[in-house]
Amino acid sequence: MAGQTNHPLRGDYSAIAADYTVTQDYARYTESEQQLWKRLYARQSALVPQYACDEFVDILGALNFGAGIPHFDEINAKLSSATGWALVAVPGLLPDDVFFTHLANRRFPVSVWLRTLAEFDYVVEPDIFHDFFGHVPLLFNPTFADYLEAYGVGGVKAKGLNALDYLARLYWYTVEFGLIQTPRGLRTYGAGILSSRGELPYAVNSPKPNRVAFDLQRVMQSHYKIDTFQETYFVIESFDELFLATAPDFTPYYAALATRDAIAANEVLATDRLIRV
Ligand code: PHE
Ligand code: CO
Repeated sequence: MAGQTNHPLRGDYSAIAADYTVTQDYARYTESEQQLWKRLYARQSALVPQYACDEFVDILGALNFGAGIPHFDEINAKLSSATGWALVAVPGLLPDDVFFTHLANRRFPVSVWLRTLAEFDYVVEPDIFHDFFGHVPLLFNPTFADYLEAYGVGGVKAKGLNALDYLARLYWYTVEFGLIQTPRGLRTYGAGILSSRGELPYAVNSPKPNRVAFDLQRVMQSHYKIDTFQETYFVIESFDELFLATAPDFTPYYAALATRDAIAANEVLATDRLIRV
Protein backbone atom coordinates (compact mmCIF):
# COMPACT_ATOMS: atom_id res chain seq x y z
CA MET A 1 0.00 0.00 0.00
CA ALA A 2 0.92 3.57 0.11
CA GLY A 3 3.46 3.59 2.84
CA GLN A 4 6.18 5.31 4.75
CA THR A 5 9.67 5.11 3.36
CA ASN A 6 12.61 7.40 3.74
CA HIS A 7 14.37 6.33 0.56
CA PRO A 8 13.65 7.20 -3.06
CA LEU A 9 11.01 4.90 -4.53
CA ARG A 10 12.23 1.92 -6.44
CA GLY A 11 9.78 1.76 -9.33
CA ASP A 12 9.76 3.59 -12.66
CA TYR A 13 7.00 6.20 -12.49
CA SER A 14 7.85 7.80 -15.86
CA ALA A 15 5.09 6.10 -17.87
CA ILE A 16 2.14 6.08 -15.45
CA ALA A 17 -1.46 6.82 -16.42
CA ALA A 18 -3.51 9.32 -14.37
CA ASP A 19 -4.45 6.52 -11.94
CA TYR A 20 -0.78 5.47 -11.62
CA THR A 21 -1.25 2.25 -13.58
CA VAL A 22 1.26 0.95 -16.12
CA THR A 23 1.28 -2.02 -18.49
CA GLN A 24 2.88 -5.14 -17.13
CA ASP A 25 5.20 -5.42 -20.18
CA TYR A 26 5.79 -9.10 -19.57
CA ALA A 27 8.61 -9.45 -22.13
CA ARG A 28 10.92 -7.32 -20.04
CA TYR A 29 11.26 -9.95 -17.29
CA THR A 30 14.65 -11.62 -17.73
CA GLU A 31 15.37 -15.32 -17.52
CA SER A 32 17.13 -14.81 -14.19
CA GLU A 33 14.07 -12.99 -12.83
CA GLN A 34 11.92 -15.94 -13.91
CA GLN A 35 14.30 -18.30 -12.10
CA LEU A 36 14.21 -16.12 -8.99
CA TRP A 37 10.41 -16.12 -9.02
CA LYS A 38 10.35 -19.93 -9.18
CA ARG A 39 12.71 -20.17 -6.21
CA LEU A 40 10.75 -17.64 -4.14
CA TYR A 41 7.49 -19.39 -4.94
CA ALA A 42 8.83 -22.88 -4.27
CA ARG A 43 10.23 -21.92 -0.88
CA GLN A 44 7.17 -20.03 0.28
CA SER A 45 4.50 -22.39 -1.08
CA ALA A 46 6.19 -25.29 0.74
CA LEU A 47 5.90 -23.39 4.03
CA VAL A 48 2.40 -21.96 3.93
CA PRO A 49 0.38 -25.17 4.53
CA GLN A 50 1.71 -25.15 8.11
CA TYR A 51 1.16 -21.47 8.77
CA ALA A 52 -1.51 -19.97 6.50
CA CYS A 53 -5.27 -20.22 6.86
CA ASP A 54 -6.99 -22.82 4.67
CA GLU A 55 -8.67 -20.15 2.54
CA PHE A 56 -5.24 -18.97 1.42
CA VAL A 57 -3.65 -22.42 0.98
CA ASP A 58 -6.57 -23.80 -1.03
CA ILE A 59 -6.63 -20.91 -3.50
CA LEU A 60 -2.86 -20.83 -3.81
CA GLY A 61 -2.91 -24.48 -4.83
CA ALA A 62 -5.69 -23.94 -7.34
CA LEU A 63 -4.00 -20.91 -8.93
CA ASN A 64 -0.64 -22.66 -9.14
CA PHE A 65 1.40 -19.67 -10.34
CA GLY A 66 4.83 -21.02 -9.49
CA ALA A 67 6.06 -21.84 -13.00
CA GLY A 68 7.05 -18.27 -13.77
CA ILE A 69 6.11 -14.66 -13.09
CA PRO A 70 2.32 -14.57 -13.47
CA HIS A 71 0.58 -12.76 -16.32
CA PHE A 72 -1.90 -10.35 -14.72
CA ASP A 73 -4.34 -10.92 -17.63
CA GLU A 74 -4.55 -14.65 -16.93
CA ILE A 75 -5.25 -14.18 -13.23
CA ASN A 76 -7.76 -11.44 -13.98
CA ALA A 77 -9.82 -13.77 -16.14
CA LYS A 78 -10.26 -16.05 -13.09
CA LEU A 79 -10.54 -13.28 -10.53
CA SER A 80 -13.30 -11.38 -12.29
CA SER A 81 -15.58 -14.40 -12.27
CA ALA A 82 -14.70 -15.28 -8.66
CA THR A 83 -15.18 -11.93 -6.88
CA GLY A 84 -15.22 -9.18 -9.51
CA TRP A 85 -11.79 -7.93 -8.48
CA ALA A 86 -9.03 -7.08 -10.98
CA LEU A 87 -5.29 -6.67 -10.63
CA VAL A 88 -3.80 -3.45 -11.99
CA ALA A 89 -0.08 -3.08 -12.68
CA VAL A 90 1.68 -0.20 -10.87
CA PRO A 91 5.31 0.92 -10.46
CA GLY A 92 5.26 0.55 -6.66
CA LEU A 93 3.91 2.47 -3.68
CA LEU A 94 1.06 4.86 -4.47
CA PRO A 95 -0.29 8.09 -2.97
CA ASP A 96 -2.95 7.23 -0.38
CA ASP A 97 -5.92 8.60 -2.28
CA VAL A 98 -4.94 6.76 -5.47
CA PHE A 99 -4.52 3.51 -3.55
CA PHE A 100 -7.87 3.84 -1.76
CA THR A 101 -9.70 4.68 -4.98
CA HIS A 102 -8.39 1.52 -6.63
CA LEU A 103 -9.52 -0.63 -3.71
CA ALA A 104 -12.92 1.07 -3.54
CA ASN A 105 -13.40 0.00 -7.17
CA ARG A 106 -12.21 -3.56 -6.57
CA ARG A 107 -8.88 -3.03 -8.29
CA PHE A 108 -5.81 -4.32 -6.49
CA PRO A 109 -2.52 -2.56 -7.37
CA VAL A 110 0.38 -4.97 -7.91
CA SER A 111 3.97 -3.75 -8.35
CA VAL A 112 5.53 -4.94 -11.62
CA TRP A 113 9.17 -5.19 -10.52
CA LEU A 114 10.81 -8.16 -8.84
CA ARG A 115 13.41 -7.97 -6.05
CA THR A 116 17.03 -8.90 -6.82
CA LEU A 117 18.73 -12.08 -5.71
CA ALA A 118 20.48 -10.10 -2.95
CA GLU A 119 16.99 -9.32 -1.58
CA PHE A 120 15.84 -12.95 -1.60
CA ASP A 121 14.90 -12.85 2.08
CA TYR A 122 13.95 -9.24 2.60
CA VAL A 123 12.98 -6.30 0.45
CA VAL A 124 12.23 -2.79 1.75
CA GLU A 125 9.32 -2.03 -0.58
CA PRO A 126 6.54 -4.31 -1.80
CA ASP A 127 7.61 -6.04 -5.04
CA ILE A 128 5.61 -8.32 -7.33
CA PHE A 129 6.41 -11.34 -5.19
CA HIS A 130 5.00 -9.79 -2.01
CA ASP A 131 2.02 -8.24 -3.78
CA PHE A 132 1.19 -11.35 -5.75
CA PHE A 133 1.97 -14.21 -3.43
CA GLY A 134 0.80 -12.39 -0.31
CA HIS A 135 -2.29 -10.55 -1.49
CA VAL A 136 -3.78 -12.13 -4.61
CA PRO A 137 -5.04 -15.47 -3.23
CA LEU A 138 -7.40 -13.88 -0.69
CA LEU A 139 -8.89 -11.58 -3.34
CA PHE A 140 -10.66 -14.81 -4.36
CA ASN A 141 -12.35 -15.07 -0.96
CA PRO A 142 -15.73 -13.28 -1.12
CA THR A 143 -15.78 -11.95 2.46
CA PHE A 144 -12.18 -10.81 2.44
CA ALA A 145 -12.70 -9.23 -0.98
CA ASP A 146 -15.68 -7.27 0.39
CA TYR A 147 -13.62 -6.14 3.39
CA LEU A 148 -10.90 -4.78 1.15
CA GLU A 149 -13.38 -2.83 -0.97
CA ALA A 150 -14.96 -1.38 2.18
CA TYR A 151 -11.48 -0.45 3.37
CA GLY A 152 -10.90 1.53 0.18
CA VAL A 153 -14.18 3.40 0.59
CA GLY A 154 -13.28 4.03 4.23
CA GLY A 155 -9.87 5.33 3.19
CA VAL A 156 -11.28 8.00 0.95
CA LYS A 157 -13.50 9.08 3.84
CA ALA A 158 -10.72 8.94 6.45
CA LYS A 159 -8.56 11.21 4.34
CA GLY A 160 -11.22 13.89 4.53
CA LEU A 161 -11.38 13.43 8.31
CA ASN A 162 -7.61 13.57 8.81
CA ALA A 163 -7.73 10.04 10.16
CA LEU A 164 -5.43 8.21 7.78
CA ASP A 165 -2.95 7.19 10.48
CA TYR A 166 -5.68 5.28 12.30
CA LEU A 167 -6.89 3.53 9.19
CA ALA A 168 -3.34 2.67 8.08
CA ARG A 169 -2.89 0.79 11.38
CA LEU A 170 -5.98 -1.26 10.63
CA TYR A 171 -4.57 -2.26 7.23
CA TRP A 172 -1.22 -3.06 8.76
CA TYR A 173 -2.58 -5.24 11.56
CA THR A 174 -5.13 -7.07 9.38
CA VAL A 175 -4.35 -7.19 5.64
CA GLU A 176 -0.58 -7.25 6.16
CA PHE A 177 0.00 -8.88 9.57
CA GLY A 178 -3.29 -10.44 10.67
CA LEU A 179 -3.63 -13.77 12.47
CA ILE A 180 -6.76 -15.92 12.51
CA GLN A 181 -8.04 -18.73 14.75
CA THR A 182 -8.79 -21.90 12.84
CA PRO A 183 -9.83 -25.44 13.82
CA ARG A 184 -6.19 -26.41 13.21
CA GLY A 185 -4.85 -23.67 15.48
CA LEU A 186 -3.53 -20.20 14.95
CA ARG A 187 -2.80 -19.31 11.32
CA THR A 188 -2.08 -16.18 9.31
CA TYR A 189 -3.94 -14.37 6.54
CA GLY A 190 -1.62 -11.32 6.46
CA ALA A 191 0.28 -10.73 3.23
CA GLY A 192 3.35 -9.30 4.97
CA ILE A 193 3.71 -12.54 6.91
CA LEU A 194 2.74 -14.84 4.04
CA SER A 195 5.46 -13.53 1.73
CA SER A 196 8.19 -13.62 4.43
CA ARG A 197 10.36 -16.68 5.05
CA GLY A 198 11.27 -15.60 8.55
CA GLU A 199 8.08 -14.04 9.86
CA LEU A 200 5.81 -16.99 8.92
CA PRO A 201 7.03 -19.31 11.68
CA TYR A 202 7.73 -16.41 14.03
CA ALA A 203 4.25 -14.90 13.81
CA VAL A 204 2.46 -18.20 14.21
CA ASN A 205 4.67 -20.11 16.66
CA SER A 206 7.20 -17.96 18.49
CA PRO A 207 6.51 -17.28 22.18
CA LYS A 208 8.04 -13.81 21.79
CA PRO A 209 5.36 -11.55 20.24
CA ASN A 210 2.11 -10.52 21.91
CA ARG A 211 -1.03 -11.96 20.35
CA VAL A 212 -4.12 -9.98 21.21
CA ALA A 213 -7.75 -10.71 20.33
CA PHE A 214 -8.83 -8.28 17.61
CA ASP A 215 -10.41 -5.09 18.92
CA LEU A 216 -11.01 -2.41 16.31
CA GLN A 217 -10.29 0.66 18.41
CA ARG A 218 -7.29 -0.98 20.11
CA VAL A 219 -5.83 -1.71 16.67
CA MET A 220 -6.39 1.80 15.37
CA GLN A 221 -4.72 3.21 18.47
CA SER A 222 -1.56 1.07 18.13
CA HIS A 223 1.77 2.04 16.61
CA TYR A 224 3.57 -0.46 14.42
CA LYS A 225 7.13 -1.03 13.31
CA ILE A 226 7.94 -1.31 9.62
CA ASP A 227 11.52 -2.58 9.84
CA THR A 228 11.37 -5.55 12.26
CA PHE A 229 9.14 -8.55 12.86
CA GLN A 230 6.00 -7.35 14.63
CA GLU A 231 5.95 -7.20 18.41
CA THR A 232 2.16 -7.54 18.54
CA TYR A 233 -0.29 -9.38 16.30
CA PHE A 234 -4.08 -9.13 16.45
CA VAL A 235 -6.13 -12.29 16.09
CA ILE A 236 -9.53 -12.53 14.41
CA GLU A 237 -11.96 -15.45 14.68
CA SER A 238 -13.17 -15.20 11.08
CA PHE A 239 -13.32 -12.89 8.08
CA ASP A 240 -16.98 -12.32 8.96
CA GLU A 241 -15.90 -10.92 12.34
CA LEU A 242 -13.52 -8.53 10.59
CA PHE A 243 -16.13 -7.42 8.09
CA LEU A 244 -18.81 -6.87 10.73
CA ALA A 245 -16.52 -5.08 13.19
CA THR A 246 -15.48 -2.59 10.50
CA ALA A 247 -18.96 -2.00 9.07
CA PRO A 248 -20.02 0.87 11.42
CA ASP A 249 -19.28 4.49 10.58
CA PHE A 250 -15.80 5.23 11.96
CA THR A 251 -16.34 8.98 12.33
CA PRO A 252 -17.04 8.83 16.10
CA TYR A 253 -14.15 6.37 16.60
CA TYR A 254 -11.76 8.79 14.93
CA ALA A 255 -12.96 11.60 17.18
CA ALA A 256 -12.39 9.45 20.28
CA LEU A 257 -8.97 8.28 19.08
CA ALA A 258 -7.84 11.85 18.55
CA THR A 259 -8.17 12.43 22.32
CA ARG A 260 -6.03 9.42 23.31
CA ASP A 261 -2.32 8.67 23.25
CA ALA A 262 -1.17 5.98 20.88
CA ILE A 263 -0.23 2.57 22.28
CA ALA A 264 3.38 1.47 21.70
CA ALA A 265 3.96 -1.47 19.37
CA ASN A 266 5.13 -3.71 22.19
CA GLU A 267 2.69 -2.61 24.89
CA VAL A 268 0.15 -4.95 26.50
CA LEU A 269 -2.92 -3.44 28.17
CA ALA A 270 -4.79 -4.83 31.17
CA THR A 271 -7.87 -4.98 28.94
CA ASP A 272 -6.19 -7.05 26.20
CA ARG A 273 -7.37 -10.60 25.75
CA LEU A 274 -4.11 -12.44 25.15
CA ILE A 275 -3.87 -15.55 23.04
CA ARG A 276 -1.14 -18.04 23.92
CA VAL A 277 0.53 -20.44 21.53
N1 PHE B 1 -16.79 1.54 8.25
C1 PHE B 1 -15.65 2.35 7.95
C2 PHE B 1 -15.98 3.86 7.97
O1 PHE B 1 -17.09 4.25 8.14
C3 PHE B 1 -15.08 1.99 6.60
C4 PHE B 1 -14.20 0.80 6.67
C5 PHE B 1 -14.65 -0.49 6.38
C6 PHE B 1 -12.88 0.96 7.00
C7 PHE B 1 -13.82 -1.57 6.44
C8 PHE B 1 -12.05 -0.12 7.06
C9 PHE B 1 -12.50 -1.40 6.78
O2 PHE B 1 -15.09 4.65 7.84
CO1 CO C 1 1.24 -5.65 1.06
